[in-house]
Amino acid sequence: MSKKLFIETLGCAMNMRDSEHIIAELSKYENYSLTTDLKDADLILINTCSVREKPVQKLFSEIGVFNKKKKEGAKIGVCGCTASHLGEEIIKKAPSVDFVLGARNVSKIRDVLHKKGAVEVDIDYDESQFAFSEFRSSLYKAMVNISIGCDKQCTFCIVPSTRGKEVSIPANLIVQEAKKAAKSGAKEIFLLGQNVNNYSHEGKDFSDLLNMVSEIDEVERIRFTSPHPLHMDDKFLEVFASNEKVCKSMHMPLQSGSTEILKRMKRGYTKEWFLDRAFRLRDMIPDVHISTDIIVAFPGESDEDFNQTMDVLEKVRFEQLFSFKYSPRPLTKAAEFADVVDSKVASQRLSTLQKRHDEILDEITDAQMGREFEVYFEELRSSGGVAGRSDNGFLVQVQGSEELLGKTKRVKITYPRRTTLYGEVV
Ligand code: SAH
Ligand code: F3S
Repeated sequence: MSKKLFIETLGCAMNMRDSEHIIAELSKYENYSLTTDLKDADLILINTCSVREKPVQKLFSEIGVFNKKKKEGAKIGVCGCTASHLGEEIIKKAPSVDFVLGARNVSKIRDVLHKKGAVEVDIDYDESQFAFSEFRSSLYKAMVNISIGCDKQCTFCIVPSTRGKEVSIPANLIVQEAKKAAKSGAKEIFLLGQNVNNYSHEGKDFSDLLNMVSEIDEVERIRFTSPHPLHMDDKFLEVFASNEKVCKSMHMPLQSGSTEILKRMKRGYTKEWFLDRAFRLRDMIPDVHISTDIIVAFPGESDEDFNQTMDVLEKVRFEQLFSFKYSPRPLTKAAEFADVVDSKVASQRLSTLQKRHDEILDEITDAQMGREFEVYFEELRSSGGVAGRSDNGFLVQVQGSEELLGKTKRVKITYPRRTTLYGEVV
């Protein structure tokens, strides 16, 4: 009988891919299969995120709950960025944890599994070319890593300390993996890295890589995350616009609209550069979607700085916004900045930003009534319909069932809502 693995994945797409790698290794070599029932599990893994403080606080209470509920003899492992960051402190604080596996040590899962108290968190470890076994949580789309780590030193961000230096994976390995996934039915390839458009390997940059992946016949769509606004040069924008397989939704993490704050964040670009790139994209591709990440109340952010952020929101009218209150993180430069913003002011700014974004989004949503999109269906909804994404990233749902999965159909929007556009196959 196979053993059972319960795995919880927090945080970003890279963590999701790391979890797939862990599942693949454990099912191929250690006879594990997945369970969603904690009480049934022989092994419980938490793949953690440390980008903001809240999830880290939650970790220890969660370990306590899992330890109480788990069956006799079941092991608990902590993986991911908080594992990298806290290392053996986790076991000291929570002795019920059997092992700790850092975000850059995923390939060592089988070693730590059999060593009570093992801590593998070396951020200089290079597993960028490790041949992981195969596991994919979706039949229709496949995540493919193109680089690991991050060489930027954004002053608010803990990731360079948990995922280490940036290493680009050789292009031929990426193409090989994308080909294999696409041949087995995943027509959409999702390229992953902390800073994808900084990709560089043997003279090939990210634009070259996009073109190489698009030459695979079975690949119909290419998405990627996250690009960095600083590296959005003309070549990249032109390949993005002209390559028909590259989906027309771009993540442009703004962080702040104030050039002064961007400088303190060490983002490397100005408000003007960001606007120039966003307008260029809107000019080249009228239907493009631009999503963003914004941090409010970074240390030193004045009302005027925040107004600059609101100004960018007004000018770009993002199709999607991920917004956060600044959260001081250990191992970061900004944690030493003394001019912290009052937490009430921070909450007000976050709510002002989100409220205005919602209004903009309602206008964008209403404007989709009656429009037609090519939708690649990938998910059965619990409500009964089938959902997929339009090329530019809208979540679209129609009535139907399995027979639509893995297919691309033209859909006319009949009932646009903020989170989902409902429509009919035409
Ligand atoms: N390379 C990734 C960044 C990963 S962190 C990218 O460019 O998307 C994801 C987002 O979390 C960041 O874009 C930022 O908006 C937010 N974030 C990171 N550190 C933060 C902090 N200390 N406080 C609040 N938000 C933070
Ligand atoms: Fe973090 Fe900046 Fe890299 S946000 S992941 S240090 S690009």
